[in-house]
Amino acid sequence: MPDFETNPDLKLLGTETAFGFGAEVMAVEKTKKFPQIYKFHIGDTGPKTPEPIINTAIQALSDKQTKYAHFQGYLQVRANIAKHWTKTRGVKIKPENIILTPGGKPVIELTMQTLLTPGDYVVGQNPGYPIYESLAKFYSHGNYLPWLARHNSDTQVLEFFIEDLEKILQSGKKIKLLVVNTPQNPTGMVMPRAKLEAIAKLAKKHNFMVLFDDIYDQIIFNKEHFSLLTVHGMLDYTINLNGFSKNYAMTGWRLGFAVAPEWLIKIFGQLAINKWSCVNRVDQITAGAIYGDIELDKCLYPCVADKIAEIIKSDVALYEKKGKFLVEALRLLSPYVAPNDVEGAFYDFPNIAKILELHYVKNDLSISTDKEFSHWLLYENGLAALAGSDFGEGGSGHLRFSYSEDQNKHIIPGVKHFIKIIIDLITKSGLTPLLKMEEVEEKVDIIKNKYF
Ligand SMILES: Cc1ncc(COP(=O)(O)O)c(C=O)c1O
Repeated sequence: MPDFETNPDLKLLGTETAFGFGAEVMAVEKTKKFPQIYKFHIGDTGPKTPEPIINTAIQALSDKQTKYAHFQGYLQVRANIAKHWTKTRGVKIKPENIILTPGGKPVIELTMQTLLTPGDYVVGQNPGYPIYESLAKFYSHGNYLPWLARHNSDTQVLEFFIEDLEKILQSGKKIKLLVVNTPQNPTGMVMPRAKLEAIAKLAKKHNFMVLFDDIYDQIIFNKEHFSLLTVHGMLDYTINLNGFSKNYAMTGWRLGFAVAPEWLIKIFGQLAINKWSCVNRVDQITAGAIYGDIELDKCLYPCVADKIAEIIKSDVALYEKKGKFLVEALRLLSPYVAPNDVEGAFYDFPNIAKILELHYVKNDLSISTDKEFSHWLLYENGLAALAGSDFGEGGSGHLRFSYSEDQNKHIIPGVKHFIKIIIDLITKSGLTPLLKMEEVEEKVDIIKNKYF
């Protein structure tokens, strides 16, 4: 085999562990070692795409809308999104501020590739969605600075503190870009308005741009989603990543978009032509019809907004129930497991540092990291949850629990299984858990009956 040299910066490229871990879960499943694998690792949506959205796509295919489409997204599609964004973000967004992309993820690469010049640094929430750190390092030759979350001393739960960000900004490094995601993957936390306003002030003061990812903006519980774009003047400093994957349960469609200053969108458009030509025509029509009527080549696709509103509402209500159930049940393991309150997306990020300190875990199982613990949970116990450190060093000592899967097959029996595993570890370490093994079923069922 000939030996070809590859780009040396490839060693800086990370990955999204969820994909690799998903394959491991399937492999364990195939061995039939366990009657069932309880799945808390899935970053995909629970519900399927609402029927009216699917019907638009079927209609578009029947109409033979199969050719190339507009590289940036048809004007009418972008106008519909712009109208919705103007209304919900309270700032004038024009079709020229928008480009459609095949999924939300390409917006990350477009941003890094366009903005980063030699010596520039990227700051990212850590823990955070791993592709940010991966692509930031790849395109900046490793110049990535983590904005590390810290535990709130009262709640033991992770939080991003503005004073920590200020310290990073005062480091003298040439910071070009900050990445902010709310509701956040992996924590499920929503960043409050005051913090986003503080970030906006810092962006203007220190002259950096913000890649603002609010792809889970509609999956939010009892909280206001606040957009950075809402702060006066922030359109000039923001690349807003959004899309249809999570809010409309369309992960496999690969459909997203960026909202950004016109000069950047022009560059993104040129890159899009070089990379993928256009988002497929059926996807474009379907996306446009989510926010308004679309007419293309004499075919009409009526807006489905009213038809899907109730479906989306009930999907979000179910996420909320599952999330609240999960957290309340995990709190039965206090103080060994400290989950955060669920606020949005479909994740929780419990602190498991006290489990890793257990005598039996350390000495008998020889486990010292969240990664080893996640591995042990899967291979020895048939429970799949991602390690916190898969989302950066700031996530170590945590697990990411996704609650998108079915509550009867996975979430409820899976939580019972997890609680029993932990009680066993506590007991084997010579300690007395607050909850006895024989109480688990009854106590969890009480919580279940509260939510389902
Ligand atoms: C925070 C965040 N941003 C972006 C994405 C990528 O979205 P898409 O599947 O539309 O590319 C994900 C997917 O998990 C995500 O969690």
